[in-house]
Amino acid sequence: MVHSNSNILIAFVAIFSPIICTQQQNVKIAIIGGGIGGTSCAYFLNEMFGEKADIFIYEGNKIGGRLATVSMTDGNEYETGGSIIHERNKYMTDFVKDLGLQRRPPSSNERLGLYNGKDFDFIQSDYYLMNVIKMLWRYGYSTVKLQRFISKMLDKFDRIYGLQKEGRAFDNVEDLVAAMNPEFLTYLNVSVKDGYVEKERFSQKIVNELVQASLRCNYGQTVKVPEFVGSVSMAGMDGALWCVSGGNRRVAERLLDESNAKLIEAFALSVSMKQFGYVVATATSNDTYDYVVIATPLSQNQRIPLNFDNLPTQISRNGEYHRTVSTLVLGKLNKKKFPKFADDEGAIIINTNDDDFFNSIGNLQGINGKENHRAWKVFSKKPLTSNEMNILFENHTEVKIIDWLAYPHYVLPHQQMSFSLAPRLYHINAIEWAASAMEMSCIGAKNVALLIRRDHGNWQQTNSMKRSVEEL
Ligand SMILES: Cc1cc2nc3c(=O)[nH]c(=O)nc-3n(C[C@H](O)[C@H](O)[C@H](O)COP(=O)(O)OP(=O)(O)OC[C@H]3O[C@@H](n4cnc5c(N)ncnc54)[C@H](O)[C@@H]3O)c2cc1C
Ligand SMILES: *[C@@H]1O[C@H](CO)[C@@H](O)[C@H](O)[C@H]1NC(C)=O
Ligand SMILES: *[C@@H]1O[C@H](CO)[C@@H](O)[C@H](O)[C@H]1NC(C)=O
Ligand SMILES: *[C@@H]1O[C@H](CO)[C@@H](O)[C@H](O)[C@H]1NC(C)=O
Repeated sequence: MVHSNSNILIAFVAIFSPIICTQQQNVKIAIIGGGIGGTSCAYFLNEMFGEKADIFIYEGNKIGGRLATVSMTDGNEYETGGSIIHERNKYMTDFVKDLGLQRRPPSSNERLGLYNGKDFDFIQSDYYLMNVIKMLWRYGYSTVKLQRFISKMLDKFDRIYGLQKEGRAFDNVEDLVAAMNPEFLTYLNVSVKDGYVEKERFSQKIVNELVQASLRCNYGQTVKVPEFVGSVSMAGMDGALWCVSGGNRRVAERLLDESNAKLIEAFALSVSMKQFGYVVATATSNDTYDYVVIATPLSQNQRIPLNFDNLPTQISRNGEYHRTVSTLVLGKLNKKKFPKFADDEGAIIINTNDDDFFNSIGNLQGINGKENHRAWKVFSKKPLTSNEMNILFENHTEVKIIDWLAYPHYVLPHQQMSFSLAPRLYHINAIEWAASAMEMSCIGAKNVALLIRRDHGNWQQTNSMKRSVEEL
């Protein structure tokens, strides 16, 4: 045991192995951000460490983050951020099942129109068979090839679930993506346009219209984004899609409950590295942790500042987040502008023209499944002016605006992104630079939980070696 003459050893241990001080105590973990990434990370950590970890989540705003809803005067509540979940999103699917939540289908009887800023290139028919014929007529064999390509990509993507089940953890986004399929690495560093037209030989037309539409609608961007996120976006156009009954943010709320994490309702202002761990400061508190997880984007234009002190290497805030304004409207679509869409049927109009003032306009379904053909959501790069509102709507009775920094503004060449920022400091949202989606944040969160388990295991090993030295 430790005698008075082992002061030197204690000093040695204190400098080189901070955690030995808390060896007998629980491991203390801070998670900064209470969106789906932060809350699922707490849930995964609780699964791995159980009672041996004390987990704290800092959230200065609402749990759910970019999963958020707003109430309108028609008595419905609507999703304003992330809304659609794909049937192959394993973690989201498992969470809903395991946490006692219910799924609901998204509105399905909407007529899709692809608008190019002047005219419609494509308008869906009432009959499914007619749509298939229309698609084949307009886009030819590329329609079939593209669908096959996405389906194969989804099969390869699924590999991540097996790898994570085996406990594999990745220090950076590129390694994680390459582990699904080595070819995916090239998808990070080539544009959809180049990849799809030159490599995959899809027609220019299908890329400029259909693929562009999916990116305009899902990411507010164009086919200039990398092929990886472009393909994730295309996957989101097909297959069985669903939403969470009562709002997608319910998943984050339930994960928080189940994780046994303690919620600290404040913004973290800074994370400072000390000899004994990390200090996370808010306006009214300073607390010490063994591990810190950043579960919010670190970008050049983030709205809530978070400072880092005393790190061995400086943190680079790579790139900017893309602004997408959600405007929720109760009103009547302007028939002069969109004569082909009737009042009594749902519509989703996607604007493939990146220079026009809106990205998309679509009918909404309440979080409890109620449809209202007077309820609309417009996505745009900037808040709509009253003139622009009058172009889209004949009249309206209510307008609510949510101004998001929604997802990365994707640029090429691809920059490497790390999940590990410093020893025992991690960043879930690095994964958004491959593609941003609820499921991606869950995969990033699981990876960070696995990294902590790996690093903690290594640490305990070092510590037990030190203890044997001590016992000599
Ligand atoms: C308009 C829009 C549409 C989208 N559509 C879809 C879709 O259909 N399907 C899909 O899968 N995804 C969609 N997404 C993307 C999806 O919403 C996000 O990828 C996902 O919700 C990100 O979750 P997160 O927990 O990683 O980050 P966030 O949800 O951003 O959570 C971060 C949290 O951290 C908090 N925070 C920030 N700084 C601090 C601090 N210093 N201290 C304490 N707390 C802090 C924030 O308040 C926030 O709650 C959409 C996003 C938007 C905006
Ligand atoms: C937290 O620590 C910093 C410096 O270590 C100090 O300036 C600050 O006042 C402390 N804040 C609180 C709320 O204790
Ligand atoms: C909106 O316009 C339509 C037709 O122009 C009209 O029937 C309806 O009453 C108007 N609604 C409101 C709220 O002004
Ligand atoms: C991306 O491609 C560019 C050339 O277009 C190359 O210089 C760069 O090294 C590539 N980056 C990665 C991370 O592969």
